[in-house]
Amino acid sequence: MKQSDILATEKQLGYISESANALKIAEENKGRKLTASVVTFGCQMNARDSEKLAGILVSAGFELLEDTEDADFVLYNTCTVRDNANQKLYGHLGEVHSRKKKNPEMMVGICGCLPQEPSAFERLKKSYSFVDLIFGTHNLYAFPEYLSRLLSGERHIYEIMDHSDNIVEDLPVLRKYPFKSGVNIMFGCNNFCTYCIVPHVRGRERSRESADILAEIKKLADSGVKEVMLLGQNVNSYGNGLADEISFPELLKRTCDVPGIERVRFMTSHPKDLSDELIKTIKENDKICRHLHLPLQSGSTKVLKEMNRRYTKEQYIDLALKIRNEIPDLAMTTDIMVGFPGETAADVDDTIDVINKVKYDNAFTFIYSKRMGTPAAVREDQVPETLVKESFDRVLKVVQDTAKEQSLRWQGQVLDALVEEENSSMDGYVTGRLSNNMIVHFEGCKEMIGNIVPVRLDECRGFYYMGSRA
Ligand code: SAH
Ligand code: SF4
Ligand code: F3S
Repeated sequence: MKQSDILATEKQLGYISESANALKIAEENKGRKLTASVVTFGCQMNARDSEKLAGILVSAGFELLEDTEDADFVLYNTCTVRDNANQKLYGHLGEVHSRKKKNPEMMVGICGCLPQEPSAFERLKKSYSFVDLIFGTHNLYAFPEYLSRLLSGERHIYEIMDHSDNIVEDLPVLRKYPFKSGVNIMFGCNNFCTYCIVPHVRGRERSRESADILAEIKKLADSGVKEVMLLGQNVNSYGNGLADEISFPELLKRTCDVPGIERVRFMTSHPKDLSDELIKTIKENDKICRHLHLPLQSGSTKVLKEMNRRYTKEQYIDLALKIRNEIPDLAMTTDIMVGFPGETAADVDDTIDVINKVKYDNAFTFIYSKRMGTPAAVREDQVPETLVKESFDRVLKVVQDTAKEQSLRWQGQVLDALVEEENSSMDGYVTGRLSNNMIVHFEGCKEMIGNIVPVRLDECRGFYYMGSRA
């Protein structure tokens, strides 16, 4: 770790102590503990960031609530990848505003990707001035400082930075699950797909040093974590820009070697630089989960070029089928976008053709959403809504049909499941996750949570299985 990162960490730890002192006084005044709730939107990176925010809140002395209803402090960790993510937040803000009118002492914070986008930040400042704290992705690590200022009575703390100076990773974390954890291996993105706002709100790609990553994984394993998910917008370019760094496959191998780690996942792999070395590494390491998320976006070479994805339809199909062939028990999932500017019915046919050839185990299908500041947003050939809807339905049908067929292929097999939770709707049942990322429900008890157990997959019900202990 860089000296400046160590110093920044120490400074923030100091702010946590200051917050704890301020909170004690507030508790004495109120005669009860103060409560906080973190609401998370968006991807796994945000989920991981929220664990850090929650860790800081709890270290300062807040009682953490699942629900925002009774919280003294509500913090929204936001996403802006599509407009519906923004709309969701504005909906929540409407609700929380009416609560704050009744209880002016409550505090509201917004952080993450959304305020990092200038027009959204302006809108928040102008129309949501009841919000007490706003910060972005580059200064997330400074949350202890903002919290301490908030607790000493300051309001309207609105701080957005346009780049990151530090990688501060040693602050307290409150993990959602004791037995599995995400681990950031890199931040930001350099790919600039022409529709995507992520590089604009998360900044340039920066890898963490492998020694720091592996030390974190060792610490996690020592505290009972069995499964880690290595997180980055494009994990295949891990190590670029760092001197003497190891490749992503090598990082995977070293992660598998950490005592106590039994499963390793990663997210996300960009098809343009997925190496043979990675395929070989997955194949040769049983601990690496049999699941690959390989975002397609579009099956049309013309659209892919305009998206700046840097692969053709044929290159993608060759890669996907090579992986299917090398690792037959691997489940492949993808992201597909419909309605990119200029997309024709023939382009959508190409997307459907790829789905039919690759036969994804599951796919997330999105309608293209115009993002301010991205090159695709200013194109004049935006696709009319009715056509997009029609294409979306066509794509979704093929995705569902092929995924159903794929899901069936595990029927009758005995596979290891990591038990994640008690089943909320069936008494006496637990829910486990297979290496291929499918879910299985089977009879069990809460003592099994966190254990890996063999399960027979008895009955496929669409995207999940009903099973029994084998
Ligand atoms: N880094 C990952 C994607 C992160 S965003 C990758 O390149 O694979 C997750 C998904 O959101 C993307 O794969 C894409 O399908 C979708 N997405 C991104 N920008 C979008 C936009 N403007 N409109 C609709 N979907 C979008
Ligand atoms: Fe967005 Fe493309 Fe980067 Fe993924 S690789 S985060 S889609 S710019
Ligand atoms: Fe959303 Fe930010 Fe993730 S925009 S998808 S939360 S990186």
